[in-house]
Amino acid sequence: MNTVTNVSECRQAITAARKSGKSIGFVPTMGGLHEGHASLIRRSRDAGDFVVVSIFVNPTQFGAGEDFSRYPRPIENDAALCRSSGCSLLFNPEVSEIYPPGDETRVRPGRLADGMCGPFRPGHFEGVCTVVARLFNIVQPDTAYFGQKDAQQAVIIRRMVADLRFPTRIEVCPIVREPDGLAMSTRNAYLSPEQRKQAASLYRGLRTGQELIQRGERNAGKVVFAIRAVLDDAGPSHIDYIAVVDPETLAEQDEISPPVMIALAVRLEGARLIDNLIVTK
Ligand code: PAJ
Repeated sequence: MNTVTNVSECRQAITAARKSGKSIGFVPTMGGLHEGHASLIRRSRDAGDFVVVSIFVNPTQFGAGEDFSRYPRPIENDAALCRSSGCSLLFNPEVSEIYPPGDETRVRPGRLADGMCGPFRPGHFEGVCTVVARLFNIVQPDTAYFGQKDAQQAVIIRRMVADLRFPTRIEVCPIVREPDGLAMSTRNAYLSPEQRKQAASLYRGLRTGQELIQRGERNAGKVVFAIRAVLDDAGPSHIDYIAVVDPETLAEQDEISPPVMIALAVRLEGARLIDNLIVTK
């Protein structure tokens, strides 16, 4: 595995790989890597790609008062996880490499960013689209791999790629979970041992909602109410939203008609956690 920190080195290494006939796979990350990230890297490796991983804590997707400055940056461990998962090229740029002096261009998503996490994180998805568009222009991947964990992000990126005519295929991979169901996340490191136990209620809540729908419940309000009860029962938290949405359009459903996605965002002191589950019938 090679590591590069600037755009021209990155482009050179990728051009060489492409000349040798390899497809280019790309896994954009912010580091603080865990098994969820590793699953994306392995998926690209198993597809036979020359696997490019970026580690870049993107300042434009963090709001004022969010965790940009304290976001974990364990670059040595991250590089080791990249290497052992099959990464070919690690791109670890400085902020000025992605946002050059005088930078002012932004990529603004449309209505897909209006619901779910959008209102709670103003500007977040604009920051995500802006950095992913820049990274795609640098890497020019054949396939880019994203996690279903960030379901709204994946839908918005698919839309952006179609709208901006990027020649890149987007593959969305399943959520990797801890044994108690908690979705793996870099931000889980912020949780105290007690909060960590409480955090398992997110998945329990989603499963409760899934069971209700599978038993025939079609009233989204009732499903949301039952999930809220599971979360409240586990301890104090601030629920940003619990929603039943169309997995592709993200449109909220009052009358449930599967497949649907149940999605939620919950703040425990110090950490904002998101999770979702798709219910097919
Ligand atoms: P980050 O949170 O580091 O996540 C990088 C990728 O890993 C995303 O596609 C995310 O959905 C995926 N991922 C995270 N946890 C996962 C899990 N438990 N199971 C499966 N996949 C998981 O998402 C970002 O970074 C940034 O917004 C980025 C796209 C890199 C733009 O800055």
